[in-house]
Amino acid sequence: MKYRRLGEWGLKLSEIGFGSWLNFNRQGQDLATKLHRVAYENGINFFDTANVYGRGRTEVLVGEAMAPFRRDTYVLATKVYWPLDPDWPFPEANDRGLSRKHIVEQCEASLKRLNTGYIDIYQCHRFDDNAPLAETCRAMNDLADQGKILYWGVSEWTAEQITEAVALCDDHGWHRPVSNQPLYNMLERHWEAEVFPACARLGMGIVNFSPLAEGVLTGKYNNGIPAESRAGKPKTAEFIKARLTEDNLNRVRKLAELATGLDVPLATLALAWCLRRPELTSCIIGASREQQIVENVKATDLHLDEDVQERISAILGE
Ligand SMILES: NC(=O)c1ccc[n+]([C@@H]2O[C@H](COP(=O)([O-])OP(=O)(O)OC[C@H]3O[C@@H](n4cnc5c(N)ncnc54)[C@H](OP(=O)(O)O)[C@@H]3O)[C@@H](O)[C@H]2O)c1
Repeated sequence: MKYRRLGEWGLKLSEIGFGSWLNFNRQGQDLATKLHRVAYENGINFFDTANVYGRGRTEVLVGEAMAPFRRDTYVLATKVYWPLDPDWPFPEANDRGLSRKHIVEQCEASLKRLNTGYIDIYQCHRFDDNAPLAETCRAMNDLADQGKILYWGVSEWTAEQITEAVALCDDHGWHRPVSNQPLYNMLERHWEAEVFPACARLGMGIVNFSPLAEGVLTGKYNNGIPAESRAGKPKTAEFIKARLTEDNLNRVRKLAELATGLDVPLATLALAWCLRRPELTSCIIGASREQQIVENVKATDLHLDEDVQERISAILGE
């Protein structure tokens, strides 16, 4: 495993991070414990979750899974924004967003669920148009001053939003956001043109999510939908279905041929392709099986030379 600095900050993350969205809520603690252990033993030191995953339950599973390991040997990230209890017993106005109230209350709740004294990176899961940006930045700053979080970051914010947040923090002497977590993979590159340069300019690290497009970039959907896959199970198919377009699958079939010619799994190639970008700190993968983690961490040893990068660009239609 290789480690990269988070932007201009001192924190170092493994080039492959491990996330806990979708894979554990139904299967439970045994699988969560096993996969987090395999990730840790393969050199992954960056673990990502969110308060909303399983409506709080996933944080409990992650906390329990990481309990055997020395706290200083891994970086734990979670998030705040989405409502946790949207139907209780009526939609509650403050159970969402980035107000000081919701951020502080959810931080306390996440610390308890994760059973930890501090969160390494506390992330705004989305931008909140209904809260002043200064209120959000100050709440994050205060949590950092109190030692409840060490760093804070954002997810899916635009270049403009990130730039404004950093300027506000600098004006007030508040802790700046240190990371951005955008969707980024071979098939979904809409943040590349503006957000990547903005993060680099502002010294923020990029930790991209769904680097395998939820598994599409493993080639497993090239000839239909396997029953034992995220798209094959009704409860997890919601987001991935939109990715299974003929256009995407045609490109993935060509990428799979290229990977076969290079004698590497397509997943490894797809992750190494993300890691070619120096602005990127860590690709946050998901996994439903041990073997997927073992295969995916090998991406950190795969260097893509110019010829391979050009062949990939040709397939992606750049
Ligand atoms: N900030 C946000 O809004 C946001 C949104 C989404 C995700 N995230 C974070 O990013 C993490 C990763 O997202 P993701 O799960 O979509 O990532 P991903 O790595 O793109 O997809 C993971 C899925 O692909 C399949 N897979 C992975 N490696 C494989 C391999 N080698 N061979 C075959 N199949 C393989 C597995 O699905 P099956 O085996 O089940 O088919 C696995 O669960 C999440 O856990 C979460 O922490 C954040």
